[in-house]
Amino acid sequence: MASTPTLILFSLLHHLLVLLLLLPYQQNTLIFAPPGGGKWNLLLSDIGVSAMHMQLLNTDRVVIFDRTDFGASNISLPNNQCRNNPNDLTLKIDCTAHSVEYDVATNSIRPLNVFTDVWCSSGAAMPDGSLMQTGGFNDGDRNVRVYKPCNDNSCDWQEFDSVLLQNRWYATNHILPDGRQIIIGGRGQFSYEFYPKRAGADQSYNLPFLSQTNDPRIENNLYPFVFLNIDGNLFIFANNRAILFDYVTGVVVKTYPTIPGGDPRSYPSSGSAVLLPLRNLRGGANITAEVMVCGGALKGSFTSANNRNFVGALNSCGRIRITDPNPQWAMETMPLARVMGDMVLLPNGNVLIINGALLKLY
Ligand SMILES: *[C@@H]1O[C@H](CO)[C@@H](O)[C@H](O)[C@H]1NC(C)=O
Ligand SMILES: *[C@@H]1O[C@H](CO)[C@@H](O)[C@H](O)[C@H]1NC(C)=O
Repeated sequence: MASTPTLILFSLLHHLLVLLLLLPYQQNTLIFAPPGGGKWNLLLSDIGVSAMHMQLLNTDRVVIFDRTDFGASNISLPNNQCRNNPNDLTLKIDCTAHSVEYDVATNSIRPLNVFTDVWCSSGAAMPDGSLMQTGGFNDGDRNVRVYKPCNDNSCDWQEFDSVLLQNRWYATNHILPDGRQIIIGGRGQFSYEFYPKRAGADQSYNLPFLSQTNDPRIENNLYPFVFLNIDGNLFIFANNRAILFDYVTGVVVKTYPTIPGGDPRSYPSSGSAVLLPLRNLRGGANITAEVMVCGGALKGSFTSANNRNFVGALNSCGRIRITDPNPQWAMETMPLARVMGDMVLLPNGNVLIINGALLKLY
């Protein structure tokens, strides 16, 4: 568990600008829970890349990576290596790293070589503990990259070119019981596919729910929230509503009610979501699965922000028992409004809601 504060620290660094902007406002006007007695320690003052994406590995190390098309980072590749990529949008020859591995035990960083653009890609850990990261932007939009953890600093990203069937930028991945991953959606992609591919049999499958929840001016159904339900179906939430989806037959098994208020909760109106710890209420097989979605932005706020009219984020959370025969949303209120936050399940079953922005500029 030693890594949890570290992860949060990196996330905080990532959102430092937002925090700096918001702290005075929060301290003056909003109510905080009593302090728990912990304190923050700054472990490293500069890791060279910003943590757009990060994943805790089974080696107690954290792999961190950022987009590659934003110019040089602040950490060099090892051994005077350079990345020579004619397709990069900014630096064709780039001698800096856009990914690092943080080792919790030694509090040290080492640079890694990720080749194509992982900007707003998606991923999940595989059964062997490898991180599999798919899609992204530009030269990376159909690529698969695998990071297989090691304890001797010998591992690096392995990259497989053009193996996805569609460009997947802002998609969501989820591991399946058979060990594969399902990759759902992405900008302009109302479909899903699987990886690793099965020889000859795999294709990209349409998912009309994604076009039904898409407002083409805003594309506010990106990075959908996906959880595997206990019945083997996938709970898929996009924009302001969800379905239960049988990915084997391609059938929508259940349509959940729209979240009260109807405001969007997925990117760019990003709320966050968790599958709450599963509880066996009655013994035997009757397990209840419940999903909680927190924060987001008011409908229309994306377009109004383009006109420099900045409205506040949402302060509501909805929770729904996805296993109920007649599921209904129950709403709760957070002490802070929050967009682009994170939710993390803690070992004691509590949910930590952290980071994000209020989006209120004066
Ligand atoms: C990182 O930033 C520091 C401070 O600006 C600078 O001295 C150093 O050369 C930079 N390193 C790289 C690899 O860009
Ligand atoms: C399971 O729990 C639900 C309520 O959550 C209840 O309606 C149902 O009867 C239970 N089924 C069994 C077999 O106990």
